[in-house]
Amino acid sequence: MSAIPPTTVSSQLALRGGTPVGKVTYSKFPIFSEAAIDRVGEVLREGKAIGLGRFHSPEIAEAEATISKYHGGREVLACSSGHAALQGALAGLEICGGDEVITTPYTWGASTACILHQNAIPVFVDVDPATGLIDPELIDAAITPRTKAILAVHIFGQPANLKRLRETADRHGVALIEDGSQAHGARIDGVRVGEVGDAAGFSCMGGKVLPTTEAGYLVTPSKEVFWKAAMIGQHMGRSPETDFPADLKPWADSLVYTYRVTPLNAVLLTEQFGRIEGWIAERRRHADLLRAKLAEARYLRMPDYADGVMPVYHLMTMNFDSAAAGVPRDVFMRALNAEGLLSFGYVPSPIPDWPRLHWQDYTGPRASWLSTLEQAGVDYRGMALPHCRHRVANSIEMRFDYIDDQTAMIERMAEIILKVEAHIDELRDLAPADAS
Ligand SMILES: Cc1ncc(COP(=O)(O)O)c(C=O)c1O
Repeated sequence: MSAIPPTTVSSQLALRGGTPVGKVTYSKFPIFSEAAIDRVGEVLREGKAIGLGRFHSPEIAEAEATISKYHGGREVLACSSGHAALQGALAGLEICGGDEVITTPYTWGASTACILHQNAIPVFVDVDPATGLIDPELIDAAITPRTKAILAVHIFGQPANLKRLRETADRHGVALIEDGSQAHGARIDGVRVGEVGDAAGFSCMGGKVLPTTEAGYLVTPSKEVFWKAAMIGQHMGRSPETDFPADLKPWADSLVYTYRVTPLNAVLLTEQFGRIEGWIAERRRHADLLRAKLAEARYLRMPDYADGVMPVYHLMTMNFDSAAAGVPRDVFMRALNAEGLLSFGYVPSPIPDWPRLHWQDYTGPRASWLSTLEQAGVDYRGMALPHCRHRVANSIEMRFDYIDDQTAMIERMAEIILKVEAHIDELRDLAPADAS
């Protein structure tokens, strides 16, 4: 990519009528190799498009074996989505009706929806304000006799504190579930996320670190969890699965969700996994470069990670110090956007604030979980969650799909951020509404 001529930080802010630095663009994403595209064509041409699991489809068997190899030989169930994989994880652990699952209020809704769809009860605990990851210190106080699991989310590619979470789960005799949907390949103390929990779910929709079109997968060390997960979503146990457990046979039927992966996405999973480490390395190289370029930034900073934490960079998340800047986050974001860097707050509000969980005063279309929440008497309205609220109000996210050399774009991102910081005084008199 040709070098982008630097604009001067002294030029006026675009938000104030100055010349924008220029649009930050991203690599074409997701991309698929010619071999992957040929294999999709072959599946369609050769009558191999029915996906009834690994026992019927060699393409699905190959994808699951490939992912299993990536995850240290764990059991893998390829699914139609990350949500399907996560719900499968809960079902595989027999977590359902009225069971409590301790989880994070700071995530994409599917991390919570998988609990609700099992008629289980999400119990929200606060997060680390710098990363938005669940705070293991707060879990003990949330445990009750009904707690069956802790569900941690590796949000934005940052690994949650799996050592502490595992230790806490074991001490209380509850399961640990990981949502690795945004964190394929992230490591903590040398261990990949997904390999510490009793089960983990990953999304492979087209925007993820490991993208297909729409798919996901479950990882578990337990054959039993694998089979029980398969039973709720895969039409398994009725046909030629060779090692289906005899004790589960009486319960195998077609009272299922349709959570099967298609062979089309199965071949994409196999082919994409061949490239994942290269893509992760490129994202990391770009992130390291951005970090170096922002060394002098005062108000917008990338999170710092402890030794042993190896995030992957799915979306880029940064912390905005609104108090030090003297400017609301939304004004700062609008200034970035006007210069050409599209930024946003990914989590709009803590999940327990969402009206579809408030059975007490709910007036919208009926939702299947409301009666479960009502029976359990949970009241999510007005939960304190100060760190989550701080994070919602102060984090800024942006796309980071840099899987080929986009050094010039990193330079442009940094230039925009530093320009807006240099002109922070000009933003101080703008209320959020004035800044559009
Ligand atoms: C953290 C998290 N969990 C779960 C999901 C659900 O994945 P899917 O969209 O594949 O169902 C997503 C997808 O965006 C996610 O970001």
